[in-house]
Formats: sequence, C-alpha cells, structure tokens
Amino acid sequence: MSTKELRVAVVGAGRWAERAHIPGWQRDPRVEVVAVADTDPEVARRAAKEFGVARVETNYRALLDDPAIDVIDVATGNEAHFEISWAALEAGKHVLCEKPVHRDARQTKRAAELAASKGVKTKLGFTFRYAPAVMYAKDLIDQGFVGEPYVFNGYEQNSQWIDPATPLRQAEGAEPDGAEVTVSSIEGYGAPVIDIMHWWVGRPLTSVVGTWRNFVPVRMVRSSGTMQRMNIDDGDMWICEFDTNVMASIQSSYVTVGNYPGIEARIYGSEGALIVRLVEEFGICQTIKTATKDAVEFVEQEIPQRYFPEGGASTEAWPFLFYSNLVHNFADEIISGGTENQGDFAQGAIVQRTINAFERSARERRWVAFDEVEGA
Ligand SMILES: NC(=O)c1ccc[n+]([C@@H]2O[C@H](COP(=O)([O-])OP(=O)(O)OC[C@H]3O[C@@H](n4cnc5c(N)ncnc54)[C@H](O)[C@@H]3O)[C@@H](O)[C@H]2O)c1
Repeated sequence: MSTKELRVAVVGAGRWAERAHIPGWQRDPRVEVVAVADTDPEVARRAAKEFGVARVETNYRALLDDPAIDVIDVATGNEAHFEISWAALEAGKHVLCEKPVHRDARQTKRAAELAASKGVKTKLGFTFRYAPAVMYAKDLIDQGFVGEPYVFNGYEQNSQWIDPATPLRQAEGAEPDGAEVTVSSIEGYGAPVIDIMHWWVGRPLTSVVGTWRNFVPVRMVRSSGTMQRMNIDDGDMWICEFDTNVMASIQSSYVTVGNYPGIEARIYGSEGALIVRLVEEFGICQTIKTATKDAVEFVEQEIPQRYFPEGGASTEAWPFLFYSNLVHNFADEIISGGTENQGDFAQGAIVQRTINAFERSARERRWVAFDEVEGA
C-alpha cells in the first residue's frame, strides 16, 4: 500500500487527464495516483504506462469500495460527470470533477449537499482560478488594491473551432438542425470566467441579460465524421447586475481569433484596476497589469513565486502549471482537514445557475432575475 498522504484514482484517461490531471497530481510529493480507469482499455493502459500507474480498470465502480483510495478524479467526457461523481460521493470519496458536474444547477447543488452530508470535499475543474496571476489578483483585491469594485469584464475567446473542418463534439441534447440555438461555448468555455467573476466580485448576482450567435452554421461533427448543420452558441455576450453597484460583462467564443486559453479578466474599482491575461503568447502563458487612480498607466507586475508550484514558471505549458496549483490546493484542503474548500460543487452550482440564467435570457430575449432560476 502507498505510503503517500493522499491516494487518487483518475477516471477518464483521455487527452485532458494526460495533459493536466495526472501530471498535476504527480507533481505533488504528498500524492500518489494509484489507479486509472477508462471504458476504453487501450486508453487506460496507455495512460498507466506513460505515468507509471500500477492499477488499470475499465469500470470505475471497481475503485469505489477500495479504502486505500481517498479521491476520485472525474476527467471523462461531460456525459459521465454526474453519475461518477455521485457514486464516488456516496462511497465517501473526495471528488474532483471536470465541469460541468451537471448541466442543471439543481443537480449540481444536490451533489454539493451529498458531499456535505458525507463530510467529504469536492472541487470543480475551474482551471483558471488557479493560474498564479489570478490567485495573485484575488489577494490584491482582498487587500483593497481596487477599493470598491465598479466593473468586471471577463472573456474567454479562442479560435479552436473557427475552421468548420475541425471536429467538434456534438452538444448534449442538441438538435443539430434545430431552429433554436443550443448552449455550447458559454458552458464549455465561459464557465471558468463566470467562476472568476463570482470569486472576484464576491457579491450576490441579481439579474442578467444577453444574447448569442451561431457564426459557423455547418461543421464537422466528431461522432459522425461528417459536415452537419450545428445550430450552437459559438459566441455570446452577457451583462450581469449584482446587489451593489458593481456590474459585469461576460463574453465567450471559440471562433474568435487568438490563442489558448484566451482568458482575460479585468476589475476596475474606486482605487485601482487589475488586468489579468491568460493567453499563451510569445513563450509565456499569463500576465498581470495594474494601475491606480494616481498612476493610471497600466504596468506589468511580476507574479510572486509563492503563487507557483515548486519550481514552476510562466513559461510552462498552462494546463500543467494551472492544474498543478488546482490539485495542490485540493490536496491541502483535504489533508488539513479544515473547512476551507474553494471552487467546490456549491460554487459549481452558482456558475451553472448563471449559465442557466444566461440561456433563459437569450431564449426569451429579456432581463432574467437570478431568483427566477432554480438551483439556489
Ligand atoms: N478545465 C479545463 O480547462 C478543461 C480543458 C479540456 C477539457 N476539459 C474537460 O475534460 C473532460 C475530458 O476531456 P478530454 O478532452 O480529455 O476528452 P477525451 O474524449 O479525450 O477523454 C475522455 C475519456 O473518458 C473516457 N470515458 C468516458 N466515459 C467514461 C466512463 N463512464 N468511465 C470511464 N471512462 C470514461 C473515454 O473513453 C475517454 O478516453 C471533458 O469534460 C472536458 O470538457 C476541461
């Protein structure tokens, strides 16, 4: 049996598990990845070999009764997130799950409640709140750098699917040629920046309005390998009101020119302003710029080393750098046994409820009060 403090089983051993989850966990000397599971045995075996993981399963359920496993890490495609998370929580495991836990905020909330009743911790794959620049900005906000916040702008944009021939997974529940646009970019790509908005603004959201567009009508669908009508949201814009004067905008799109991950988060307040950019450009993956009311020209700041994993730098590949921080933070929260649990399923439910409110606003073409949307 492992002598490490925390033993993790990774379920879903595809591309993202290989680029972010497994290497992130293995960077933490307190952690051992003891098993990988994938319904595709070849994928599971390949990941186990690459990362030196001893145990390989094709059915995640084989892992749930093992008392030597502390954490189930769900990195499968979206359709399996809820089922696996729920079963793992019922078995008393801590759970890290890729977003979304469930497309309906009410179900995500139920899973958060199950975790609380079991006394276990949860975490969502909100990769970008663990970027060193974003963590540094959050501390500056808490220390009063921006003063009273007035405006938050968040966007995620990249050109991953600007070429219609790039295969895209069909959105769940989508009618490919339906008359109504189906949620896509805002759920898959907007969620992380919505998370940062809630985290930085720190006030209850009260109402939203916005719209979306389908810019690329026909594209390659991954499952069929053919060009099909895909009436999906591949670009969207939203305005958010909070219970104080602060207001926010959110934009997401995966058909907008620019590199990964394509996040920019800005906050402007009574005393100062912060601009964080997470875009892999010219060999680095993040920058933070600050200005104050007395020195209004934005100046790039060095990100203190304490926000990086051991030996980490902005020149690392962003999935590895940001995910190392994410899983390190989760390991801290579990091992400490305290009450701290940031970016958990309860936060996931707030983010999902925001997306559900956006969707309603776009469909009904009106302001939607947050209270109208279930999942609180
Ligand atoms: N947080 C982020 O920044 C970020 C970035 C990329 C991907 N993701 C998310 O990560 C997840 C995985 O993405 P990916 O690109 O690696 O996909 P992928 O298709 O490459 O890998 C998913 C793997 O899960 C396996 N799988 C499916 N159902 C399973 C089940 N019931 N039990 C065990 N294995 C199962 C599949 O066989 C596949 O190998 C997705 O939810 C995606 O949205 C998040």
